[in-house]
Amino acid sequence: MARIPDAFIDDLLARSDIVEVVGSRVPLKRQGKEYAARCPFHDERSASFTVSPTKQFYHCFGCGAHGTAISFLMNYDRLEFLDAVDELAKRVGMEVPRSENPRSAQQQDEGRELYSALDAAARFFQKNLEDSEKARTYLDGRGVDEANRTRFQIGYAPDGYSGLRDALGKDERRMKLLDRAGLFSKNDRGHVYDKFRDRVMFPIFDRRGRVIAFGGRVFEKDDGPKYLNSPETALFHKGRELYGLWQVRQANQKIERLIVVEGYMDVVSLFQFGVTQAVATLGTATTPDHAELLFRNAPDVFFCFDGDAAGRRAGWKALESVLPRMKDGRQAFFLFLPDGEDPDTIVRKEGAEAFDERLKQATPLSQFFFDELTREINLGTLDGKARLAERAKPMLAQIPDGAFGDLMKQQLGVLTGLGGQPAQRPQQGPRATSGRPVTPVAKRSLVRAAIAILLQQPSLAMSLGGQHHFHGLRLPGVELLLELLALVEQRPDISTGALLEHFDGREEQASLHTLAAQTLAGDEAKWTEELHDAVGQLEKQLLFQRIEDLNAKQRQHGLDDTDKFEMRELLKARASLRI
Ligand code: UTP
Ligand code: MN
Repeated sequence: MARIPDAFIDDLLARSDIVEVVGSRVPLKRQGKEYAARCPFHDERSASFTVSPTKQFYHCFGCGAHGTAISFLMNYDRLEFLDAVDELAKRVGMEVPRSENPRSAQQQDEGRELYSALDAAARFFQKNLEDSEKARTYLDGRGVDEANRTRFQIGYAPDGYSGLRDALGKDERRMKLLDRAGLFSKNDRGHVYDKFRDRVMFPIFDRRGRVIAFGGRVFEKDDGPKYLNSPETALFHKGRELYGLWQVRQANQKIERLIVVEGYMDVVSLFQFGVTQAVATLGTATTPDHAELLFRNAPDVFFCFDGDAAGRRAGWKALESVLPRMKDGRQAFFLFLPDGEDPDTIVRKEGAEAFDERLKQATPLSQFFFDELTREINLGTLDGKARLAERAKPMLAQIPDGAFGDLMKQQLGVLTGLGGQPAQRPQQGPRATSGRPVTPVAKRSLVRAAIAILLQQPSLAMSLGGQHHFHGLRLPGVELLLELLALVEQRPDISTGALLEHFDGREEQASLHTLAAQTLAGDEAKWTEELHDAVGQLEKQLLFQRIEDLNAKQRQHGLDDTDKFEMRELLKARASLRI
């Protein structure tokens, strides 16, 4: 996560207007206190996407997308966190405080130099492709046309040990840069030479279209490893990058789906045949970082694997990475190809339409999950059912709250006959005229009610005048409530959106967003009263909890003088409550 101080983010959000940020990208219509639009993150005919100027955040009642001005830019413009912060800061004329630490400024310069070294290398390889009859013939043979060579900036690393070194390593400093960019190898005697030699070169781009690494393919089968990839460097971590994602973004206004394949050539061939949503993991299994990146870019993700045992294992790995990210609105599918085929060979043989047809027939995550788990289990026996439940439960517990998780648990119930216990869905109250749920405060637990009110209008916390003495109360959510109160006390003018931003990346975030998106019944006066009431009740509960704790202590070890004094005070306080 960024090293930007929270206070700066708070300020930035306080000075930005989410309505302006969203409105300059999506046409908004005023609707009461809020603005509505057709959701830019999923296909829909009605307008379930709302932007609230008072809460300073957006929420889609259809797909559940939500967030602040920062997350909107991350999702809509597909920016990284820091870039979204930059963009927003530029709008309101604030300077992002990140160079306080001189090392980070230096690191930035070094980063820039590394990018330019990699870019120079990519251009060097492209230039060499023009001059290499052999490499061009190879690409012709694999059906990669001119447009795709350019799109992927495919190149050729010349034979010999110092083509790149001679061309770009003109002085000590540049040699060091090329080395840190992962373009050299070193022999036992310390001699430095080109890492990529006589290979077709596929540059790997980051999310902003900068070259960060390469993959190089040999021509002949027995010339060492078929693909050689750049090592991990300061800029390249293969578990976090997806080959082709930059090109996919360039080719699609809105990415409806992403197809995850294994190889460079699979991505290139699919593009060649007009399937422009393919990305490849770089010789690794699908990592959680990959899963996050995939779903940040598209709601539907298709994983393609070989149909053999290794392919199914790879599929299971991918499933494990996506499961904790299966929020409602997201879908994952698994496509297993016939023996000996990969997407490259299939699309060449069958064409794009047939490939699309295969995708339509792909196995949904839910089916793959239960198929795999029951593969070696006899569900006809009690023992088998118990084993299935034992294996499935910890995995299903990772699915974020929502309809998908409920359905999976139900399905487990059906298969085991143990009765699915779908998680309790949040109580939805009577529908308001706008068609959105209005939630009565009284139906929630005290803690939840207080949190819901704070999210509705954070400034109400100030009406407590800093008085809330239920620290240490053992009830779910108490610490979260105290944290929210403390945040508002530090910044009385904080908006709901900015408040939520503090929980970015934490597991509470999703449920806080859900609460924040609801329209509470009542008005400010009613909420203030409810909040005071809830806090009062919680303080009482803490009193009772403390009395019980001391009673327990008395039974076990007896009370010392301080305890006895406290007990007397507690009992007095309790007595005064009962009047
Ligand atoms: P494959 O061996 O399936 O290659 O490896 P491919 O993509 O079908 O290659 P072509 O069609 O023969 O050119 C799939 C992916 O695994 C990684 C590469 O990312 C490759 O694209 N890989 C494979 C390596 O990193 N190193 C290797 O030696 C082989
Ligand atoms: Mn292949």
